[in-house]
Amino acid sequence: MTRTLKVAVIGAGMAGQAHAFGYRNVSMAGSGELQVELWAIADPNVDLARTVATRYGFAEAIGNMDDVISSDCDIISVALPNFLHADILPRVLASGKHVFAEKPIGRTLAEATHLRGLADASNAVTGVGFSFRRLPGLAGLAQAVHSGLIGELHTARAWYNADYAANPASALSWRYSGEQAGAGALLDIGAHAIDALHFVAGPTARVTNATVRTVIAERPLPAAGAIGHGGSTSAETGPVTNDDVALLTLQLESGAIAHVELSRIAHGIPNSLGVEVHGTRGSASFDSMSAGEFHVFQDGVVDATFNGARRIITGPAHPYFTDVAAMPGAGVGTGYAEAFTAEIQEFIRTIHAGSTMDTNFETAEVMMRVVDAALRSATTEAPVSL
Ligand SMILES: NC(=O)c1ccc[n+]([C@@H]2O[C@H](COP(=O)([O-])OP(=O)(O)OC[C@H]3O[C@@H](n4cnc5c(N)ncnc54)[C@H](O)[C@@H]3O)[C@@H](O)[C@H]2O)c1
Repeated sequence: MTRTLKVAVIGAGMAGQAHAFGYRNVSMAGSGELQVELWAIADPNVDLARTVATRYGFAEAIGNMDDVISSDCDIISVALPNFLHADILPRVLASGKHVFAEKPIGRTLAEATHLRGLADASNAVTGVGFSFRRLPGLAGLAQAVHSGLIGELHTARAWYNADYAANPASALSWRYSGEQAGAGALLDIGAHAIDALHFVAGPTARVTNATVRTVIAERPLPAAGAIGHGGSTSAETGPVTNDDVALLTLQLESGAIAHVELSRIAHGIPNSLGVEVHGTRGSASFDSMSAGEFHVFQDGVVDATFNGARRIITGPAHPYFTDVAAMPGAGVGTGYAEAFTAEIQEFIRTIHAGSTMDTNFETAEVMMRVVDAALRSATTEAPVSL
């Protein structure tokens, strides 16, 4: 019997648009029994909501976000600035609807822990958008490591370098405010890198060392509301109150040690999330700049003459690929667009199965513990155990 889930997305900015894209493309093998109705995009900027609704085929644009919470829809996606998570998510979770929230759920560990408690108490499916996990190349790397292909991990490296804040003339949006965003690069993009590290190499036990730095201290105030990384600016400037770059050294629960490098001002590197791991029998790596592949080196597989890392091109053998790729063959490529489709597909699949979403509020709280410990370590210049 076909079941139709009525969907609303709250927040029409960068991430809300990516969710809308995901719902629009959600059809997958076996999904005939479960359909989505693209109902509403909600945002106080109702003109933007209308533009996004029209683009992605949603029926309505709604200015009052509470109208969505009190509606009869089945699913609410929340993609709002971090300072609104602790205000809106409790009401969305209390509505009993299935909830898909953008990372990082709040600005601080206290907010994340509170929201995780509310999600745990919900009978509905509650997921959090750690979208990079859905890239077939990163998921393939995790499979290779978990299957023991490179032995026992002893060292890992994760990074997220981006250039969205490299231009000092870009608008002082909520992302640059410690009050509104929480940490800067450490949380905005660090959430993904830390989670990717956890996904591949397991959870963190201790932040051994952390350094954070604000490089561009002032930015021009936005002339109107700044959406995403764009927006017009005024002549007046204001202070940046969170970090542009962060470096972390971690000890993982497995005993492996790891290094995490984060920058939102990396000139010439538009968007690169990567993980590299070293084990007792080999090494493996993934970089989202070449999202359709990952690399594995296994010691002793061939003799020294032809020894080297193998470049594995993702295809139907790898997670998510078959449901998101436009054609069923290896090498046709998948990127960040497909990751948003795959995460929404996984959310819908989980609702259908009545099970628990694999990236959820607990995943987000576990990530936030690292961010919190890193901020404390950077302040005290001492290690912090989680
Ligand atoms: N998974 C990812 O790759 C990814 C990418 C980008 C953002 N995010 C997350 O998504 C969330 C939203 O980020 P974004 O980049 O879409 O933000 P954005 O600035 O692009 O959009 C924010 C939206 O919220 C609306 N809004 C509602 N109330 C507001 C208020 N009081 N003040 C300001 N804006 C208000 C704005 O009108 C705007 O449409 C954040 O938590 C961010 O961490 C995740």
